[in-house]
Amino acid sequence: MIVLGLKCYSHDTGAAIISDQGGALKIHAIAEARLNRRKHSFAYPLMSIAYCLNALGLESLDDVDLICIDRHMETWPEKGSQFGYENALKRHHPRYDDNHRWNYLVEQSIKYDSTKVRWINHIDAHAASAYFVSPFDEAAILIAEGGTGIYHGQGLDLNIIDRIGYLGDTYLNGEKLAERRDHFVNSSFFYDKVSEHLGYDIFGAGQTMALAGYGDQVPFEPLVDVDPDRFEDFIINHDKTVFGMADVPTFEGEDSDKLIANPWVSLARQAQETLETDIQYLVWLARKKIHSKKLCLAGGAALNCIINKKLIESGLFDEVYIQPAASDEGLPLGCALYGYYANGGELRHHMSDAYLGTPNDPATLPAVLDKWQLKSAKASVQDIAQLLVDGKIIGRVAGGSEYGPRALGNRSILADPRPADMKDRLNAEIKHREGFRPFAPSCLEDNIPDFFQSPAKSPFMVVAGTVKEGERDQVPVVTHADGSCRVQTVNQEQNKDYYELIEAFGNLTGCAVLTNTSFNDRDEPIVETYDDAASCLLRTGLDALYIEGQLVERTENTPALTSAQNLATTTARVDKDYTNLIERFCDVEVYVRLAEDLKAKESTPKG
Ligand SMILES: [Fe+2]
Repeated sequence: MIVLGLKCYSHDTGAAIISDQGGALKIHAIAEARLNRRKHSFAYPLMSIAYCLNALGLESLDDVDLICIDRHMETWPEKGSQFGYENALKRHHPRYDDNHRWNYLVEQSIKYDSTKVRWINHIDAHAASAYFVSPFDEAAILIAEGGTGIYHGQGLDLNIIDRIGYLGDTYLNGEKLAERRDHFVNSSFFYDKVSEHLGYDIFGAGQTMALAGYGDQVPFEPLVDVDPDRFEDFIINHDKTVFGMADVPTFEGEDSDKLIANPWVSLARQAQETLETDIQYLVWLARKKIHSKKLCLAGGAALNCIINKKLIESGLFDEVYIQPAASDEGLPLGCALYGYYANGGELRHHMSDAYLGTPNDPATLPAVLDKWQLKSAKASVQDIAQLLVDGKIIGRVAGGSEYGPRALGNRSILADPRPADMKDRLNAEIKHREGFRPFAPSCLEDNIPDFFQSPAKSPFMVVAGTVKEGERDQVPVVTHADGSCRVQTVNQEQNKDYYELIEAFGNLTGCAVLTNTSFNDRDEPIVETYDDAASCLLRTGLDALYIEGQLVERTENTPALTSAQNLATTTARVDKDYTNLIERFCDVEVYVRLAEDLKAKESTPKG
């Protein structure tokens, strides 16, 4: 069976494909943002569909057996939703309105056999994304984000215990409630609300968590009355909390480093501590309702590595598996997995690494070097390790890309974690972002006890650890203000080449740790292709690239590239790619006719 999973609406669209042909489960997945270069893209995932089909050598949507789509709030009535197009337009964030109209045209004209389509509940898909690729045959599953769910995974079955949010029915203790309950101001929404007050958008949770880490340095001055009566079984209602935030100020300055002061740090700390309390409560509830000692986690809140650390340390569960693409980026995989098992699939695959992308074709590298007038030379991991020791900052592209928001070596910017000034260099010259943002370490699994008190295995960088007090001066770049760190542990099975690079650095320095930050500039998604990587090199203070055993550097003829120039060329390329993909996957006549209808409708005065 070959199953395609899609998230077509709202943020973080993308595709995943699974195949059980040949006796093993093969999985590939990608977020549309990686391909169309728009962060958290809302675009119908045509590029991701092509990417996934290509990964299995397939040509068209007719070659897949099932198409499983996240049934989100913005689907259209003709394809299975209660919301009309007019409503959908009103509901949508104005920033993404153009995409939304375009999505509508693609949705209505895409050519697939509709008998192969299954609409998957959003929270069920998150649950499937965590449980079915975990190493467990039985486990409790907690989904914490805009919706909330507690599930019991048993063999190949996913049983709903509690569920609320989005379009589906509400469940309590395994029973479907007669009345669907709309409730959206839960813990995650409160957290997002605080992020908004700190000047970020709905994707600012990582910044809020980082800022809360300054809680020890800035005195606590609470601003928000967090409702103590918010708990009703598994439903946590922050309506009152958020309603009471009307007078809480919003940060409006340009210099976000000024956030390291009150009221902002106290606000971030309140959000963090409240979310910690709420998730710990839900975890306790999951343990109480499902007598399992194993837990799977997904949903946006499962990316909060401080919370994950605390719940692992609580000992409520013996083993915890967290889906690395815990937020909506992982939804396509969840849809595909849900569809596969709901339709008789029997093979399992434990996702012990997150490299679900497909490698670039090495034959395309010479053209990229030529385009940007770059030079390349063969280099060993020892050569690269020496360059890192010499203070060089290097972008690494190797193998398949990581699924989810964390770069885990294959699309990473690497640097020496020891020099005191490296953190500022990385923030200012490469990432162009706030100075308070921490950087994460990649450490060989065997060397964890040398530097860190952290889980022995943390391959996905979703659990916080602590840098040992005596070692903080040794690795200042990866030590956050409160001594915490977000370690990626690396072993040979997960990523042999990356392991050998860290090992070579350790042989030279006695410190088998590298600074690992995602390979991207501010406001762009993580790079996917050689060309994305080269363009990032040209726009930032990166010293070199390490691409599949080649050291790639500038020459005197390499042009400078501004962000504006990059945006213009990328937009032109993406528009052309989408035009080709519409011709490949859509009924062009239908697409054009609907576009004309839409134009006529919109130019007609209302009333
Ligand atoms: Fe979600």
